[in-house]
Order: sequence, then structure tokens, then C-alpha cells
Amino acid sequence: MADSGSGPAVLMIRGGTVIDATGERTADVLVRQGRVEAVDADLATPRGATVLEADGCVVVPGLVDLHTHLRQPGREESETVETGARAASLGGFTAVVAMPNTEPAIDSAEAVRNVLELGAKTTAEVAVAGAITVGRNGERLAPLGEMAVEYAGGLGVTLAQHCEDGSLAGGGAMHEGAWSSRLGIPGMPAEAEEVMVARDIALARATRGRIHFLHLSTAGSVDLVRRAKSDGLAVTAEAAPHHFTLTDACTAGYDPVFRVNPPLRPQADVDAVKAGLADGTIDAIATDHAPHAPELKDLPFDQAPPGMLGLQTALSLALTELDMPIQRILALLSWQPAAIVRLDPAHGGGQGGPIEPGSVANLCVIDPVATWTVDPAALASRSRNSPFGGRTLRGRVRHTVFRGEPVVVDTEVQR
Ligand code: DOR
Repeated sequence: MADSGSGPAVLMIRGGTVIDATGERTADVLVRQGRVEAVDADLATPRGATVLEADGCVVVPGLVDLHTHLRQPGREESETVETGARAASLGGFTAVVAMPNTEPAIDSAEAVRNVLELGAKTTAEVAVAGAITVGRNGERLAPLGEMAVEYAGGLGVTLAQHCEDGSLAGGGAMHEGAWSSRLGIPGMPAEAEEVMVARDIALARATRGRIHFLHLSTAGSVDLVRRAKSDGLAVTAEAAPHHFTLTDACTAGYDPVFRVNPPLRPQADVDAVKAGLADGTIDAIATDHAPHAPELKDLPFDQAPPGMLGLQTALSLALTELDMPIQRILALLSWQPAAIVRLDPAHGGGQGGPIEPGSVANLCVIDPVATWTVDPAALASRSRNSPFGGRTLRGRVRHTVFRGEPVVVDTEVQR
């Protein structure tokens, strides 16, 4: 039932190039009752099928975002599960992992259940990352077993960490360096991130546990993870698009839209993040989509909450800014994050898997050469805090199919 979809029974994606982890081929994709039925060149279109044209486009497994702030419960003026899922669909994502720093925090089985129930009505798979401690206070462990056993099908939990040492970062609003001195904005040093990455690598070494590092932003962090991986530790890492496209110099105009945690860093760190994406040290591009309603965000730089929108620009930023073959970029946005989060296959799973007969039809059709200019007011999010307004990007999501339902058709969200 979960994977039958509520869209048309039969869908034909015609004329595209299919790209997945197994390679690339020119093929039509026939979808029936939410699943891929056939992948082959020149398939006959069954009578009554809904046709999605994919000429000049690539047809790929739906993208998977490991790091999405959906703001529900508690901050619905900034985003809801529904509006965030719509932004995800427009960005080509068929699955997102909702972060637990809501109000109250997602730190119990009931809180997880509430978000999953909201997610079940939307245009994307919404998985939930539970808080590790009650209230995210770092004191008492949250009921991890109950949250994971009920909803993740077992205790194969991956711990994920936003690496920031509060005593070093304390009070900082941007990267500590030449720009923070010039602007008179309190800084947080790269070391605030790096000491936590180092600590958690030491703990992963001691416990042989799995740990995932959220939004790495410094050259030192990338290097630590590179060495941990070469030592054979079970560590994975992600980077956010703003950390491979923007530098701390963007802060020069004191525009709060550029405030984010971890902060924007100097060019050498941006280059190191790109190198980490290119050499496999960083496994995934994750958006850190962090909506803040205008009345909350439009404050003096050092008083504004950190965070930027990301879901609708991530893929295009990667295609525009990363000098990598498209299949590698898709690996970072689709099948590698899917492998990290290990979504329950019974619930719209199959995310990131090869496009083959029998797989759940979570698909994205991308025009890799189309260009578009970001207009924050036109994004589906409830918030407007994109730092990429006015930028012209290459690569655009044309259609998104979620469990066989065309939820985005010709760049328009359908519900
Ligand atoms: O910039 C950020 N915004 N970084 C975080 O870690 C949290 C996020 C948010 O929730 O707004």
C-alpha cells in the first residue's frame, strides 16, 4: 500500500537518458502502480498512460537529503512539513531527513510519530532524525531504542553530529578570521568545528560505532575525516552547497541572509570541501535547508538566527559549481545519502536504488543544461532566506515522481 502512490496508474517517462549507480543508458521508463515496470529504448506507450517528456534530460533515482529543517512542531511560520516537502519535490528530492531541533525537540517516539504522520500526507518521504538527548540538552539520553525500534526497524542507528565546541564558538556569528576582524563581528574559529570532529573520530575508534558528520566546512575537518576513513573507521560525512559556493567575504555587507552555522569560510576551506567531495572523503551533499521567516531573520547580522534555504537550489548549485561528471554529482545527492540513511524499503524505500523493473518509482528528471535565475519569493518554502537570489544556475529539475505519482511536472508542483 505504501508504495502504490496516488498518481496515475501508468506513467511513461519518454526520451531521456537513465543514470543510476549502475551507469547510463538511453531508455524510456514505464511506471505502473507506483513501481518501475520496464526500462528500455523505444517502449510502446500504453493507452491512457500519462506521458512525461524527458528529451535532453537525465532520468535519475530521486534525490535524498540527509539534513532538512522542517520546523514543525513549533515554528510553523517558517516552514511546515507540507511546505518543506513541496520545496523538496521541486528540488528533485523524493526523501528528506527531518532534523530534531524543533520546538519541542523530536526526542521521543511520540514526537517522531507525529512528524511521520504529517510527512505521510506530503509529496516526499519524510524520515526523522531523533535527538540524541532529551530536549537536546546534552544531559539525559533520549529513548533511542524506542524511537529507532518503532520507526527505523531496528537499532542499527547512525549517530550524527553537528560539530561545534560551544566554549570555542561561544558568541561567534561568523568565521573568525580577517573578515570578522574587519567587520567587527564576533568570530568562531575553524577549531571549534575541528576539535569536535577529532573527538568523535576518537570515540568512533574506541567504540567501533557508526558516526555521520553533518555539514563539514573546514579544510581541517575534511582532512580528519579523510584520515579516519583511511584507518577503516565507519565514518561518513556530508557538505552543504553553501560551503562549496560561498565564502566569508559574502558577509561584507552585513546581510543576515549569509549568517549560517557552521559559518561561511575562506576560499581555502571552500576548495578543501570541493576536494573532499571529489575524492570521496565527503559522501553526500546535504542541504541544511534552514528556513527562517522574514520577521525572524531580518535582524542585525549578529542577532539574526543562522540558516539558509537549500532544497530548491542544491542540485543546480552542484551542477553549476562542481567540476565533476554528472553521475558523481548524482551519487552525492542520491544513492550515497540513501545508503547512509537506510530508509525502510517498505515505506517508499528503493530511494537511490537502480532504476529497474520492480523498484519503487521515486525518480527525478533533470534538464542538465537549462538555466534559471533564483527568485527567493518564488520558492515553495514559507521562508525567503536564500542567499542565492539573483544567481543564474545551470541544471533544473523538470519532473519529480514520488511513488509513481508525478508530483512535479514541467517545473510545477502538482499539489
Ligand atoms: O545555520 C544553521 N541553522 N545551522 C544549524 O545547525 C541549525 C540551523 C537551524 O535550525 O536554523
